[in-house]
Amino acid sequence: MNCLRSPVPSDLEVLRKLWPRLSDAALEAQIHGPRLRIIEAGGKPVGFLKFHVIWESLPFIEHIVILESDRGLGYGTRAVREWERQMAERGFDLVVMSTQASATAQHFWRKLGYTDCGALTIRSQPAEIFMQRRLAGDS
Ligand SMILES: CC(C)(COP(=O)(O)OP(=O)(O)OC[C@H]1O[C@@H](n2cnc3c(N)ncnc32)[C@H](O)[C@@H]1OP(=O)(O)O)[C@@H](O)C(=O)NCCC(=O)NCCS
Repeated sequence: MNCLRSPVPSDLEVLRKLWPRLSDAALEAQIHGPRLRIIEAGGKPVGFLKFHVIWESLPFIEHIVILESDRGLGYGTRAVREWERQMAERGFDLVVMSTQASATAQHFWRKLGYTDCGALTIRSQPAEIFMQRRLAGDS
């Protein structure tokens, strides 16, 4: 079942909880942009993911967040797998994401089969590690 959908104006309420550092105006811009997907479970929004297609050839997940109360229930995994399926359907054979080397969330990505492919160190922050997963051959 498809657990990803495009955002609608009423998602502003859940997005305020998921992305509190953005103003309403910035969240509304995300809602109207092409890159945000709402993650649904049991007919209600439980999270979002935001992605880009860099160089017109490489899908990149910039951010994924599940409501704190709904974490650990498999929704993140299901959303990433559905996004990967949609990217494969569009003809892409490789996807990437990034996370800070200090973030425990990297273990989520490792469990999903993502492997390190580089790092970026900027603004004296912990390294931003990039991880990739090949889609070709997925069922
Ligand atoms: C990371 C996140 C999206 C995962 O979504 P989720 O629905 O909670 O993940 P799932 O239930 O599908 O978990 C899948 C596996 O990853 C593991 N996992 C998930 N988040 C983890 C974390 N932060 N640290 C270590 N392991 C984690 C789970 O324990 C689970 O392991 P299991 O298969 O052995 O049980 C969610 O926890 C979240 O929103 N975190 C805060 C925001 C964040 O860090 N986003 C990632 C930025 S790149």
